[in-house]
Amino acid sequence: MSKHSQNAISVYAPASMGNVGVGFDLLGAALAPIDGSLLGDKVSISAIATGVEFEQVGPWAHKLPTELTENIVYQCAEFFLDKLQTNTGVKLVLQKNLPVGSGLGSSASSVVAALYALNEHFDKPFDEQALLLLMGEFEGKISGSVHYDNVAPCYLGGMQLMLNTQDKVCAAIPSFKEWYWVVAYPGISLSTAKMRALLPEQYDKGVAIDFGRYLSAFVHASYQQDSKMAIEVLKDVMAEPYRAAAIPGYLDAREALTQLGMLTTGISGSGPTLFSVTDSLEKAQQAKEWLEQHYLTEQGGFAHVCQLDEQGTRRV
Ligand code: HSE
Repeated sequence: MSKHSQNAISVYAPASMGNVGVGFDLLGAALAPIDGSLLGDKVSISAIATGVEFEQVGPWAHKLPTELTENIVYQCAEFFLDKLQTNTGVKLVLQKNLPVGSGLGSSASSVVAALYALNEHFDKPFDEQALLLLMGEFEGKISGSVHYDNVAPCYLGGMQLMLNTQDKVCAAIPSFKEWYWVVAYPGISLSTAKMRALLPEQYDKGVAIDFGRYLSAFVHASYQQDSKMAIEVLKDVMAEPYRAAAIPGYLDAREALTQLGMLTTGISGSGPTLFSVTDSLEKAQQAKEWLEQHYLTEQGGFAHVCQLDEQGTRRV
């Protein structure tokens, strides 16, 4: 445990969509732009004599706390050194490529990249499940509550269903390889805690039954590879009805995307990023262009045609 790699390690952790519309807090998917660009944070780690040195760079670093000890990546490093009771130190550099408060699992991406890099650097003191639990705990410090629908797909890739059983946090379910996920981030930031506060404390019995039916039907359809059924039940009865109005332009965009022939559209995580699904690359490109022209309102907004990132977090 005390032996560790002297060479710098660099880790990439992909963006993710929490909820995927149909599975509030219970389903999540990692994203890979089809143009090959990397949509996620990177953390590099190297050994130093003692303590934690930390630097944050990249296009969204200016949105992070200026007090470095408040940064979650710094806190992850302190936790590791404390836990392992090691005398050596680490230097971490966070390349912050994802906008905060975007609905793309930005905090999860930083936490997962950092904990993965630390675990590799110190020769894997934590196994996969233990590391995942740790990732959820640290991400929960930022988002205000522990839910794994971003950290699990970000870490493990693909489409992940949360189980939260005694032995298993989550399991991968089959995805539809022919689907394109067009995601668009308008450029504004929304706090997950505030978007959660918009939801009712209690749900109607009919809504609870619909939620259970849609999610279980979606999982069934995924295993059957029945894309028609999957699209039919990819409906959000838990969050979208209460969050849609708080996301500028969302309802108009959803309507326009339907007119363009997209199969379904929903909110990525707690927004403001939206996702829209199609099995036609041509339609995906048209949707991306429409979103670039009409949904991106602030500097820094972007749209990507994605498929799912099946690899999850990895060394780069
Ligand atoms: N599933 C959570 C929510 C987090 O919708 O509030 C999304 O990133």
